[in-house]
Amino acid sequence: MANLFFVPQYIITGENAIQLSMPHIRAFGKRALIVTDDTMVKFGNVKKLTDELEKYDILYRIYSGINSEPTHTMIDEGVRIFQQGGFDFLIGIGGGSPLDSMKAIGAVVSNGGSITQYKGKVIEKDLPPTVAIPTTAGTGSEATKVSIITNTDTGVKMLLSDPKLMAKIAVIDPVFTLTVPPAITAATGVDALTHAVEAYTSLKAFPMADMFALSAVKKIFKNIYEVYTNGTNVEARREMAIAAMEGGIAFSNASVTIVHGMSRPIGALFHVPHGLSNAMLLEVCLRFLKPGATDRLCDLAKAIGVYSEGMSEEEGADAFVNAIIELLHKLDIQTLQEFGVKKEEFIKQIPKMASDALDSGSPGNTRRTPSNAQIQELYQELWDSGEKK
Ligand SMILES: NC(=O)c1ccc[n+]([C@@H]2O[C@H](COP(=O)([O-])OP(=O)(O)OC[C@H]3O[C@@H](n4cnc5c(N)ncnc54)[C@H](O)[C@@H]3O)[C@@H](O)[C@H]2O)c1
Ligand SMILES: [Fe+2]
Repeated sequence: MANLFFVPQYIITGENAIQLSMPHIRAFGKRALIVTDDTMVKFGNVKKLTDELEKYDILYRIYSGINSEPTHTMIDEGVRIFQQGGFDFLIGIGGGSPLDSMKAIGAVVSNGGSITQYKGKVIEKDLPPTVAIPTTAGTGSEATKVSIITNTDTGVKMLLSDPKLMAKIAVIDPVFTLTVPPAITAATGVDALTHAVEAYTSLKAFPMADMFALSAVKKIFKNIYEVYTNGTNVEARREMAIAAMEGGIAFSNASVTIVHGMSRPIGALFHVPHGLSNAMLLEVCLRFLKPGATDRLCDLAKAIGVYSEGMSEEEGADAFVNAIIELLHKLDIQTLQEFGVKKEEFIKQIPKMASDALDSGSPGNTRRTPSNAQIQELYQELWDSGEKK
């Protein structure tokens, strides 16, 4: 079977990556719309970018309205600003939320209509050139063909996936991630880990994507606890930034599966940050998918060094799942209850969450493909596991 493999046109990594990217960015034109959030402006990250743009006489406007995981109204506003300003290209700087928003704005600018019509849509026309500068080590959005936007009218986190959404340039400077607070460091790092594990255990996995997934899993196991407890360790932050990109490349090509499928509805309805809802779901989902992916989970155990000589494949898979559980515990991942979700509301939404999860297509990529009833049971199990903790 043949497989297509997508990556950004340029990937520029390491300290001062912005400087190295400028000659390529300049080729996109004279007027840039910067898509970001207020925190990035406050922390001076946007200034680091605009200082460089000024050196190259590139005019810019800052749209910093992406102050939560992006909603359709934030995209509408960005499209309006882009169209009024006559911009040549887009730069997203921030976590996955500004980067996804930049892609969604670009898609609507070129293809028309409203972002609310883009769920699962084929994007026909090229976007204006896009530059993605991540400041969290998590989503890998800088190197994925994915954008996730919440339609607040329907309560659905829409998955947009099309090669045209891939950024032209990804600029990955780990220094930007030094200021991420511990809880966000943990949640975004687990998001990256989830991308890699899901890509590796996906029905759509193939060798090119496997290579990135394995590399990401190894790096994350080595470095995530260090960045959680010692956020100023630049070397560990560098490893996590690269791992997040690798995880993004892996899943963008081989797809995510059940965890992301079930995670998006929790984000849309209960506003649990994306990485955290993945982290909450990992244990129940891995236990569910294990019978379909024992060999692959055993490979992951070998990759992180928890497989011992003489173990069966089953024991190897269990060793990997146990290593994940132990890691989540060390990272102090909250339960739904600790996050403040109310029992009656969660239980009431289970049928909607299960059909929205299946409708996204992601659970269908799981090697043990779940039915609607099984997904409902897993949501119930997730709630019950939080009661016990
Ligand atoms: N496109 C993809 O491939 C993809 C993959 C996974 C998730 N996502 C989506 O990405 C979004 C989540 O992105 P995220 O997890 O990066 O979070 P985010 O962009 O929402 O940022 C989370 C918080 O961290 C802050 N922050 C970001 N960088 C910081 C820094 N350097 N220092 C201090 N604070 C900083 C932000 O201001 C924000 O308050 C979700 O909508 C999720 O669905 C997209
Ligand atoms: Fe994710």
